[in-house]
Amino acid sequence: MRPVVGFAIATGFVLLVSQSGAAAGADQGAQLAATCASCHRLDGGGTGIPSIIGLGEERLNSALLAYRAIERPNHIMHAIALSLSDEEIASVARYVAAQGK
Ligand code: HEC
Repeated sequence: MRPVVGFAIATGFVLLVSQSGAAAGADQGAQLAATCASCHRLDGGGTGIPSIIGLGEERLNSALLAYRAIERPNHIMHAIALSLSDEEIASVARYVAAQGK
């Protein structure tokens, strides 16, 4: 993926998140997960991008932290994780982990 594409995606993502910034608590995970769903299908179906359904809260949480810290290198997920606070990572992990149950 060319950097400019990644930047466009990251920028769009940040805009989406800031628009929903006023939404509180339980809704936050759902709002954030809606942005994940543009790449990861939340019904567990495969599109070439790995499914994030069934990974569990712990694994989702640590994967996002690893992408953010570039412990796990991936330009796309790094850009996404970089725009999330620890709290946002925790709430999106909790929400996504509860899907497909
Ligand atoms: C622009 C597309 C895109 C968006 C949006 C996106 N992802 Fe990803 N995600 C990917 C790609 C591509 C990979 C595979 C990266 C790799 O090979 O490490 C991935 C990998 C992952 C993985 C690792 C899966 C595994 O099997 O270990 C997790 C967890 C994940 N994403 C969570 C999320 C969450 C949560 C969001 C929303 C906050 C999100 N992603 C938004 C494209 C995206």
